[in-house]
Amino acid sequence: MSKDTSVLLDEKRVFKANYRIVEEAHVKNWEAEIEKGQDLEKYWSEKAEQFEWFEKWDKVLDESKKPFYKWFTNGKINLSYNAVDRWVFTDKRNKVAILYANENGEERKLTYYELYREVNKMANALKNLGIKKGDTVSMYLPMCPELLISMLACTRIGALHSVVYSGLSVGAFVERMNDSNAKVLITADGTYRRGKIIDLKKIADEALLQCSTIEAVVVVQHAGNPITISELSGREIFYDTLIDGESDECPVEEMDAEDPLFLLYTSGSTGKPKGVLHTTAGYMVGVATTLKNVFDIHDGDLWWCTGDIGWITGHSYAIYGPLLLGTTTMIYEGAPDYPDPGAWWKIVEKYGVTKLYTAPTAIRHLMRYGSKHPNLYNLSSLKILGSVGEPMNPEAWMWLYKNVGKEKTPIMDTWWQTETGMHMIAPLPISPLKPGTPTLPLPGIDADVVDENGDPVAPGKGGYLVIKKPWPAMFRTLYKDEKRYIDVYWNKIPGGVYHAGDIARKDEDGYIWIQGRSDDVLNIAGHRVGTSEVESAFVSHPAVVECAVIGKSDPIKGQVIKSFIILKEGYQLNTKLIENLQKHVRYELGPVAVLGEIQQVDKLPKTRSGKIMRRILRAQEEGEDLGDTSTLED
Ligand code: WTA
Repeated sequence: MSKDTSVLLDEKRVFKANYRIVEEAHVKNWEAEIEKGQDLEKYWSEKAEQFEWFEKWDKVLDESKKPFYKWFTNGKINLSYNAVDRWVFTDKRNKVAILYANENGEERKLTYYELYREVNKMANALKNLGIKKGDTVSMYLPMCPELLISMLACTRIGALHSVVYSGLSVGAFVERMNDSNAKVLITADGTYRRGKIIDLKKIADEALLQCSTIEAVVVVQHAGNPITISELSGREIFYDTLIDGESDECPVEEMDAEDPLFLLYTSGSTGKPKGVLHTTAGYMVGVATTLKNVFDIHDGDLWWCTGDIGWITGHSYAIYGPLLLGTTTMIYEGAPDYPDPGAWWKIVEKYGVTKLYTAPTAIRHLMRYGSKHPNLYNLSSLKILGSVGEPMNPEAWMWLYKNVGKEKTPIMDTWWQTETGMHMIAPLPISPLKPGTPTLPLPGIDADVVDENGDPVAPGKGGYLVIKKPWPAMFRTLYKDEKRYIDVYWNKIPGGVYHAGDIARKDEDGYIWIQGRSDDVLNIAGHRVGTSEVESAFVSHPAVVECAVIGKSDPIKGQVIKSFIILKEGYQLNTKLIENLQKHVRYELGPVAVLGEIQQVDKLPKTRSGKIMRRILRAQEEGEDLGDTSTLED
């Protein structure tokens, strides 16, 4: 429990929703909705009725094999069908489903009907590549329509997608791809990043040298990076060539409610990344319900989630949630401050974005440029703002509230995880808000802060954040690693509760204040980065014998990496080696691994059994008391 949030707990300001918000809200009575949520099965089965089922479920929740919960057993449904086809038969047929824009001012719009045709073509094309129900297709793509189309094509035919964030690099990519046994990789000639084109195909090529499962590589010509046909090898094909001539009708796979839907890798504190497995129906019910209620989605909305599709935020709330609700979803490829710090606000004005969902790190970043930029644009279309990924500091909250929301738009600070699939602790638009807290568990969610025995802690006291009852969009296991699933999440705290890995406190109103991770996972600009992954990257450099890394607070990124390294004999840490190490780690992990100071040491603090005690390093770094050092080896 490293971080002290007493400052946060002193935050007493409360912001109440205005009449306009309350009038429009789907949920007008918070207490009544919470009351309904007490009866889990009834509550979630009502929410499941919004979809078209091929066959209805027998049982809403099957708890017979805890913690391997099952939802909507024996129901038959298809996500892609419900997100796309369902709207094609209604008056949303010609409504824009995906609105893509990028930092060059280019845009592309796909209506539900156009999306339908593209998804069907790609689904047929994937089948022609030999993809069947249960196979995995990996994607390493920028934020572009083809990524959404490919994901929906997979879920249409029952293939799992495993999207690798385009900001991860070779090492991280190889590990994820090999673990998932992906048969096909879909990548692109490049992605735009601050006026440059990052050559994704080149990174993919290097990664593929270490992957044995990939049979075909599909290349989207997206960024105008010249790749000529002659440069494509035998197993490679351009996306356009692949779908050319494919029929725009592809039968929908009737999926069992519990059939695997997708894999998404996330960093753990030890070992390799965890393949988080989500299944079909529960995920659909969870994401659609939470998006609808937390952001109060209506037909006229233009929804913009700035989170990258390479992370769960993009999966649940840039694609699946909004399309399951028949909303227009904005996909933007570009940085918040490029070509200038008003880039995002310009988009809001130009398209009339009504709901904007973003991350504290982006807000802190934009805050640096002052209020000038948001004030240059007409942001009056905005009705609700939101945030996810890390604690929202009250300063950032207030800046957003004043300068972007003009003190009229509530801010939905949403706490959730790759594993939870959907929002868990979050306000509703009608909730009284306090800057810096995601407020209370949502209806149907039972979350609490407990001590190591599983007993609730008193208000103001730090403890472990746990979820006490199952929820529909919960992940079902870690891919090929049931033991780790049980050990990491279900066996840490007595009482059969889900251990989220976060430290939190409750205030006297029951509001939950998140303080950070309880394990050795770093949160860099809202991205989870495992200490072990960074350490392995360092150690794979010829000059490094051993390494330990910790997170160090950073005003913009939340945390950056402070590294302690032991060098091989004959090496000395100088500017050149530092540069070299930075390059190496970046090559392995990509720009998500933001390196701060690298320090050479002779020894690392270890337990007698040889485990690195990062806690000691952290305490030393922050000038705090070292705490209990009895297990320290030396
Ligand atoms: C952190 C992202 C404070 C938390 C959807 C969690 C947050 C981890 C919040 C999950 C929030 C997420 N306030 N902390 N509103 N939202 N976190 O899996 O530490 O990438 O465990 O999922 O981010 O990160 P993940």
